[in-house]
Amino acid sequence: MLVEATAPGKMILFGEHSVVYGRPAIVLAIDRRARVIAKKREDNKIFIDADNLGFSGYFEDDVYHAVRGKAWRGRNLSGLNVAAKKTMEHLGFDSGINLKVRSMIPIAVGLGSSAAICVATVGAVQQLFDANLSQQEISTIAYEGERVIHGSPSGVDNNISANGGILRYSKDEGFKKYKSEIDIPFLIGNSRKKRSTRIMVENVAELKKKNLGVVEKVLDSMGIVAEEGLQALMNKDIRRLGDLMNLNHGLLSSLGVSTLKLEILVHTARKYGAHGAKLTGAGGGGCMIAIGEENNLVRIEKALRRRKSDTYRVSLTDRGVESRWIEEHEAS
Ligand code: MEV
Repeated sequence: MLVEATAPGKMILFGEHSVVYGRPAIVLAIDRRARVIAKKREDNKIFIDADNLGFSGYFEDDVYHAVRGKAWRGRNLSGLNVAAKKTMEHLGFDSGINLKVRSMIPIAVGLGSSAAICVATVGAVQQLFDANLSQQEISTIAYEGERVIHGSPSGVDNNISANGGILRYSKDEGFKKYKSEIDIPFLIGNSRKKRSTRIMVENVAELKKKNLGVVEKVLDSMGIVAEEGLQALMNKDIRRLGDLMNLNHGLLSSLGVSTLKLEILVHTARKYGAHGAKLTGAGGGGCMIAIGEENNLVRIEKALRRRKSDTYRVSLTDRGVESRWIEEHEAS
């Protein structure tokens, strides 16, 4: 028997980068999911089939051997090797495992694909050993995989992917979950430029080192925006939410994480009637999000596409990580 686990991607509404420095972030799980299918092996290899991303290979004693794609791709997959091994270590098992990874979340554009794949990996492996780990335990183990990929991430991505819904998350206080019965239409624009979260976080750290006083104030402002943004979201006050998104985008630009293309997309969305638009995730490329009245979103979407971006309409989801036993024929 095999196990299938899925976990959602995310968009950060408020608080990217400032969350790394202890301020709160407001994050939303979206209805695009990563899927991982796990099966035990007789040997001790962690074999990862990520064929639809263009690479596959296996880890033996933590050394990557490429089967398809270049050897350096092992870096992308090492988080999954760690996630699978840490799960077994936690449960007191040791085995080889096949992991088949398929994801509907675009990679390296700020929508939490790596965290969703790590979370789904832990979700699948723990069920393979008949454990019944909580979403929070799964999130904590998945963080170890995230660390291999991103350095010292804040933990926001694995928390939202494991739990789903709407989270207020901070490093010190952990998360508080809110119900996602919010029907505000969100539009995502993808600038089509991939980037590394690790490098963007390092760039902000460098800027902060050189301009400590100013950057601390920017981070404080981002914290206030996030708290007020949560209130606006809960009150479904879409105009106030839009203002706060615009403010957050300006603050993020001041940290140097926006790009010309992101600025064009954000300003295009506003020009065509968005109440608010901002980059989402680590920046340096990746995605922006916009909110507006339903009838305006079609115009905004067309305008963003004309500016060479992909667009996605997303809905929020309460569903965090989920796993189930499946038959061999369901694994394709
Ligand atoms: C990445 O999705 C969000 C950042 O704040 C990094 C992190 O929280 O680890 C940029």
